[in-house]
Amino acid sequence: MGTVVDSTNKEATGSLPINKKVKVVFVLGGPGSGKGTQCANIVEHFGYTHLSAGDLLRAEIKSGSENGTMIQNMIKEGKIVPSEVTIALLQRAIQENGNDKFLIDGFPRNEENRAAFERVTGIQPDFVLFFDCPEEEMEKRLLSRNQGREDDNIETIRKRFKVYMESSLPVIEYYKSKEKVQKIDAAKPVNEVFNAVKAVFTPSGGK
Ligand code: ADP
Ligand code: C5P
Ligand code: MG
Repeated sequence: MGTVVDSTNKEATGSLPINKKVKVVFVLGGPGSGKGTQCANIVEHFGYTHLSAGDLLRAEIKSGSENGTMIQNMIKEGKIVPSEVTIALLQRAIQENGNDKFLIDGFPRNEENRAAFERVTGIQPDFVLFFDCPEEEMEKRLLSRNQGREDDNIETIRKRFKVYMESSLPVIEYYKSKEKVQKIDAAKPVNEVFNAVKAVFTPSGGK
């Protein structure tokens, strides 16, 4: 259960070290696999706090921060923002929140994200929830998401799929080798996917 963290590492510039015991679940899967949708359900039923790395980065653009333009350009190109930026946002969100259970959605997205988060925060995930979904289904969902996102267009979607295959899947493979992955068939309807998710979060049904 959880990781005791008393980090004094200031590598993620400007962020406070995390000095409380937290339980972290990484929620991974391709763009449009349903991570955000299912995290909302998990929050409601299991009392976690949902931290979406993509949402934190989009909020940072809106806040007019000095990194805003760089983040916006990276998102438009489907590229992964340097870890120090994303980790500082995650650290601050964890530190400022009174909860001790977090779903970290869409992070770590590459090996650099994974290694830097572990190094800076000292946190290891309890497990990784992996939403497995065919690309054509994810493409269909993204093209009809309608949230006004600048990256939900076919050109950027293709770039995001490429980054996912080349950089994010190896992270899932890494956690598989550590027997930390709970794989969910995410191609099914929302309620069926959540039934599978519930089994993972219910004490007798998984980790
Ligand atoms: P992600 O956070 O993984 O990118 P979202 O949760 O934002 O994915 O879902 C992408 C789109 O697909 C949204 O419009 C959402 O309503 C829809 N969606 C999510 N899960 C399903 C599902 N199981 N079946 C059909 N559509 C889904
Ligand atoms: O997870 P989401 O689809 O919201 O991510 C949108 C974009 O945010 C990604 O395509 C990427 O450009 C950026 N991102 C990132 N690093 C992360 C998560 C998201 O750079 N760990
Ligand atoms: Mg999302």
